[in-house]
Amino acid sequence: MAHSERLVPVLTIDGPSGSGKGTISARVADALGWHLLDSGAIYRAVGFAAGMAGLDLSDGEAVTRCAETTKILFRDPKDGGGTRVIVNGLDATADIRAETCGAAASAIAAIPSLRAALFEKQRSFRKNPGLVADGRDMGTVIFPDAQHKIFLTASAEERAKRRYKQLKEKGLSVTLATLFREIEARDLRDAERAVAPLKPAADAVLIDSTGMSIDVVVAKVLELVRS
Ligand code: DC
Repeated sequence: MAHSERLVPVLTIDGPSGSGKGTISARVADALGWHLLDSGAIYRAVGFAAGMAGLDLSDGEAVTRCAETTKILFRDPKDGGGTRVIVNGLDATADIRAETCGAAASAIAAIPSLRAALFEKQRSFRKNPGLVADGRDMGTVIFPDAQHKIFLTASAEERAKRRYKQLKEKGLSVTLATLFREIEARDLRDAERAVAPLKPAADAVLIDSTGMSIDVVVAKVLELVRS
């Protein structure tokens, strides 16, 4: 690792899906003027590309090759609006958020060679003036030397409710009971996989956001970084 790279400050925010990581990370990156790495979007984009190519998601070699060759771009539109995720030239911003893509991402994320293929890509986001890295293994594997580490969680019930609201707002058809079951299954898969399981780094600060507003969590995180 280059000396200059190590000096670039990194804040890692890890946690299960629906913990609010995405929203909190984006808001904190914005407030600090730092870059943002949405590592889940990278896994989702590979899941999407593998689906488009009709690959068998349990074929480790094929999906690893897919991860190596898929071109993923994060583009901030000049006229505002959220970041667009471009996969092999196709705007997949909405597609990658579907639950099917989340499940595909979670399944391929258990393949060690695929995770290795995405290692450098994720590290390349570490640029001045700083990086907020959102994911599952940001503080444990990708940026173990990060200056600030947070593990953000919330009860499975609250996370299912938040996800339900988000997906409804996007006009997607889902039921709360299905989402709850999917979240529990995904948590289990992410926590129990042999490689880079979802667990807090030993030096991470734990925040349970159950019953907390986004503003309160953002303020807590900013206080931690600035102190
Ligand atoms: O954060 P998310 O829901 O967009 O992530 C989708 C899946 O990708 C998640 O179920 C597990 C996987 N993932 C991972 O294994 N490691 C990361 N750093 C980020 C996501």
